[in-house]
Amino acid sequence: MRHLPSRPTRTSRPRVLGALAAGLLCAAGVVAPAAAHAPAPSPAAGTRAANGLALTPPMGFNNWNSTHCRAEFDEAMVKGIADIFVEKGLKDAGYEYVNLDDCWAVPERDAEGKLVADPVRFPHGIEAVADYVHAKGLKLGIYTSAGTRTCDSVGIPGALGHEFSDAQQFADWGVDYLKYDNCNNQGVDAKKRYTAMRDALVATGRPIVYSICEWGQNKPWEWAAELGNLWRTTGDINDSWGSMLSIMKQNLPLAAAAGPGHWNDPDMLEVGNGGMTDTEYRTHFSMWSVMAAPLLIGSDLRTASQETFDILSNEEVIAVDQDPLGRQGEVLSSEGGRWVVAKEMGDGSRAVALFNETGSAQRISTTAAAVGLPHASGYTVRDLWEHTTRNTAGALSATVPAHGTVLLRVAAGHRWAAHPPAVELALEGSPLVEAGRTAAL
Ligand code: GLA
Repeated sequence: MRHLPSRPTRTSRPRVLGALAAGLLCAAGVVAPAAAHAPAPSPAAGTRAANGLALTPPMGFNNWNSTHCRAEFDEAMVKGIADIFVEKGLKDAGYEYVNLDDCWAVPERDAEGKLVADPVRFPHGIEAVADYVHAKGLKLGIYTSAGTRTCDSVGIPGALGHEFSDAQQFADWGVDYLKYDNCNNQGVDAKKRYTAMRDALVATGRPIVYSICEWGQNKPWEWAAELGNLWRTTGDINDSWGSMLSIMKQNLPLAAAAGPGHWNDPDMLEVGNGGMTDTEYRTHFSMWSVMAAPLLIGSDLRTASQETFDILSNEEVIAVDQDPLGRQGEVLSSEGGRWVVAKEMGDGSRAVALFNETGSAQRISTTAAAVGLPHASGYTVRDLWEHTTRNTAGALSATVPAHGTVLLRVAAGHRWAAHPPAVELALEGSPLVEAGRTAAL
């Protein structure tokens, strides 16, 4: 039997705001500027997930954004992605988890109450897939819901009331990561439901990254750090500029909640799925990295373009996401759709995103002092998409094309003198085509 991609109507689920609404929110100045140098408050000792996992944001793949429940989500896809992770250098770049989303199981449990893998999609079962993925030095993730059924309309069993046996089954299969969704939750208190699964995962004794997916409905950034390694902060992303922008704006103000082992999750990447330009995908990837978001590739890499690989494997941008200090970048300003977001890095430098939300080129400026760097006679400025290094006495400025992001890494210190002075990456009025591409000056 083939599972159809139809989706149930769920009135309780949040819908992301459209592009227009998001733009209005920004124009109204809803996102409050925050001081980039202010230390992020950290939860008190003993209130974090005790599993010691995800000390940097998880990186990997999840099939949902590219396949939903369509037939191409199957064993061949999962193995193919694992192969590509190794062959194309993505594993070396840090991508580790290969995650199965909804629709891997059939609608009925077996006589012992166990979950059963869909025999058409996964004819050799989940354990065989786990073995394959592990043999490549990668890890396997799985999905279920903190409800009686998962989100797909086919009616696949959820784990509510079956937490301990389902968690044990996942552990027995060699699963390393669980995404725990929120559909059909029967109105049971979220903290109670997500605590039950946390306890069940701990009881297995297997290290399993715990991804809480209640769409931000119960403000998980206020309580989930003691339960899980990451929590969704919003409704589902889709492959459009408006959706990505709206989710980014909802996630940015939550910076104080993020840290090693406990991350805000603004949902999986859409890079490469075709609904945005490459400039917009570079913005998506830049901003997810500045927000220390999980980097879960959501496109089918078996058919991805070179441009998609180039974006997803930019190691200088990934290093911003994966910085061990674990700070989520904070908004310094967002006036007129000209965003400056700064992230403190473990080596004392700052990652600085100059993001242009508007439909025309914008000059976006800040300074080394404003992003929280100490006074110095000069600063080095690394452009993480152009891969060039310049120096500046303190001014940071670029003319950024529509929907583009210039992503910089700025450091104070004597090494600035080794580099030529900074000039604007593109001059006003020059024929800029795409951010992250060398402009024809
Ligand atoms: C919810 C989640 C999505 C995805 C689907 C699967 O919508 O938020 O990320 O897992 O369910 O049905």
